[in-house]
Amino acid sequence: MTPHLHRQFPELTETLPHLVLGKSPTPVRLLSSLDTVGADLWLKDDGAFGDGGWGGNKVRKLEWLLPDALRQGRTTIVTVGGLGTNWGLATALYGRENGLKTVLALIDQPEDDHVRAQLARLRASGATLIFTHTKARTILRAPIILARNFSGRRPPYLLPAGGSSPVGALGYVEAALELADQVRNGELPEPTHIVAPLGSGGTVAGLSLGLRLAGLSTRVVGVVVNDTLRLDESAISRLADRAAGVLRDRGARLPADISPTGNLEIVTGYLGTGYGHPTMEATTAQTLSEDLEHLTLEPVYTAKSMAAVLELNAQGRFGGGPVVFLNTNGPR
Ligand SMILES: Cc1ncc(COP(=O)(O)O)c(C=O)c1O
Repeated sequence: MTPHLHRQFPELTETLPHLVLGKSPTPVRLLSSLDTVGADLWLKDDGAFGDGGWGGNKVRKLEWLLPDALRQGRTTIVTVGGLGTNWGLATALYGRENGLKTVLALIDQPEDDHVRAQLARLRASGATLIFTHTKARTILRAPIILARNFSGRRPPYLLPAGGSSPVGALGYVEAALELADQVRNGELPEPTHIVAPLGSGGTVAGLSLGLRLAGLSTRVVGVVVNDTLRLDESAISRLADRAAGVLRDRGARLPADISPTGNLEIVTGYLGTGYGHPTMEATTAQTLSEDLEHLTLEPVYTAKSMAAVLELNAQGRFGGGPVVFLNTNGPR
């Protein structure tokens, strides 16, 4: 399967390698029981992306990150996440399948059954786990962790939380081009808005750039669910610009006026006490999604994002719509 990025920019075929890890396009459907007030609400279900073992938005990023690491001759990925990190687990599992070791620095987050189960999966994944507890201690220990994971003269492949490097964001440039193709094929109407959780920024930044490359005027609404990173409009725009920079550096002839983000809206007010802390609105949104649409969300990212969609839609914030809710939560 040739990715849309290579189809739109054939000059990237050799310079920007891609590894198929998930089945695309991911399905879209109308969530008719959840849009009783406001604009029509559609689902793009990236939970279906992945090999059925562990999926979601992380896998889209890994499709570009793993081959980039391999192309540079790296043998180990060093990355960071919370104790229940979905990102860390996906990296460990898909990395291992592709001959890459993973070293994870883990930062404390509120422990519940979900987090404890994740931690057990992380221990079984073969990744090296380093409990750094806080962001400050992670930064302090980073030079030692990096130094210990050289392979000969090659440094490890270092990735930020959530895989939200410029190369990782390309996973959602690809997803935006895929969505545009689904619109062209008549699978769904052109959305006025697409809503996604904003955890480390790669998903929303990639969508923002990808929709512009696809020529859609759809606005990207990022719902802030993390208070440990800077996730304002300028940070996300900068990440989108850096992703565009990767495409240019690898030879893609992008339109000159692609840089100004313009299509990005950051929504706050749905985080609750902090990253990983439950909110009542999210619990309600999770139950409604499960009961009315058989859509399984999780509390940290997607339930908070759905809580935002339902409230903003009821307030008429999306105008006539239609609105797409992006499910980033992979199967368990
Ligand atoms: C289920 C889920 N949704 C959303 C996100 C956040 O996406 P991003 O980090 O690209 O902002 C994550 C991050 O790991 C996640 O696990």
